[in-house]
Amino acid sequence: MNARKVSSQPPIPDSSRREPSLTIGVLGAGQLGRMMALAGYPLGLRFVFLDPAASAPAGSLAEHVVADYLDEQALERLSACDVVTYEFESVPVEAARRLAQKTQVFPPPDALAVAQDRLLEKECFRALGVPTAPFAPVSTREELASHVQELGLPAVLKTRRFGYDGKGQAVLRSEADLDAAFAELGAQPLLLEGFVPFERELSLLCVRGRDGKVAFYPLVENRHREGILRVTYAPADGIRDSLQATAERYAGQVLERLAYVGVLTIEFFLRDGELYANEMAPRVHNSGHFTIEGAETSQFENHLRAILGLPLGSTEVLEPCAMLNLVGDLPPREAVLAVPSAHLHFYDKAPRVGRKVGHITVRAATRAALDANVTRLLRLPGAG
Ligand SMILES: Nc1ncnc2c1ncn2[C@@H]1O[C@H](COP(=O)(O)OP(=O)(O)OP(=O)(O)O)[C@@H](O)[C@H]1O
Ligand SMILES: [Mg+2]
Repeated sequence: MNARKVSSQPPIPDSSRREPSLTIGVLGAGQLGRMMALAGYPLGLRFVFLDPAASAPAGSLAEHVVADYLDEQALERLSACDVVTYEFESVPVEAARRLAQKTQVFPPPDALAVAQDRLLEKECFRALGVPTAPFAPVSTREELASHVQELGLPAVLKTRRFGYDGKGQAVLRSEADLDAAFAELGAQPLLLEGFVPFERELSLLCVRGRDGKVAFYPLVENRHREGILRVTYAPADGIRDSLQATAERYAGQVLERLAYVGVLTIEFFLRDGELYANEMAPRVHNSGHFTIEGAETSQFENHLRAILGLPLGSTEVLEPCAMLNLVGDLPPREAVLAVPSAHLHFYDKAPRVGRKVGHITVRAATRAALDANVTRLLRLPGAG
């Protein structure tokens, strides 16, 4: 045979076209960081986490610097990363500011400063015309008494900083509650808020890119028990387009004001068809975990895309979803995975009362089928 000889030599790759390897530094190494790394690996990203807790959940997946957030050497290691972000908002703003002198830090440290202080956060909402519960700062017992007169009872007294899962707050129902609440919380600066008799709690996950482009997931509904988020329904049932548009308008203003880059979550109370902003989280959020299996692009991937200046991914929700937090205990894997479309996430954390140790996302074609699956999952030992 007289076949023409074809060169078997592959073309020489153009090394200038090789994608640079990128390392993301993350302050905090909790489950949010762990899921961020899991979303980043398919994109070829590397991660370095800084967290003082040696057993932090992201530590088993990536380099983990076990040190204080302000440790010089640790910050040196993180400043060698291409971009630094947070998965926990109670890190010292000082650490973020120092890193920002040497590398890119997103969301901006100023946004972190606002979002970690309930007073600054509510003032930000107020300045933008975003409705909130009435509020007033409190630092003395006398101020508490006078602001309770103004705002009326019931009211909620909260520490300005470091609150999570309903910790660091007390509901004041009568004058008799003031002494005990102040004795418990008054060592720190506080915020008094009017009690909102809401019908539902909703949250909006937003993402803003470096170029200022924004995307929003549909509003989701959050159900709490004992101050801890237990179930998120996504999308929230029966939300009119106009309410989604209002939430997006409020959030868009906040993103713009904070020159925000990354995922931001805003929690709202819904009362008589009106939204009242409760708080914002400058990071990926528990109410967005459903996006891993339930949306075209997960909140974790979109956060990474945003901070790296990559195009944002679609925020479309594929099917009705529910996300169940596993609090304090883990159900048997086999039992969870026997439920159609249930996806299980364990965080590699030791079970402890009140601690979020994993979650389950379940999807279904219809709300009725979803409810049946949720009911089945909630009956499992360790899942309720
Ligand atoms: N002003 C208020 N009126 C009525 N209920 C409130 C008010 N503030 C807080 N709550 C209730 O307490 C829960 C926890 O409050 P908040 O979200 O402010 O604190 P948190 O500790 O940061 O909670 P999480 O970590 O779950 O977001 C809210 O989800 C809501 O159910
Ligand atoms: Mg909250």
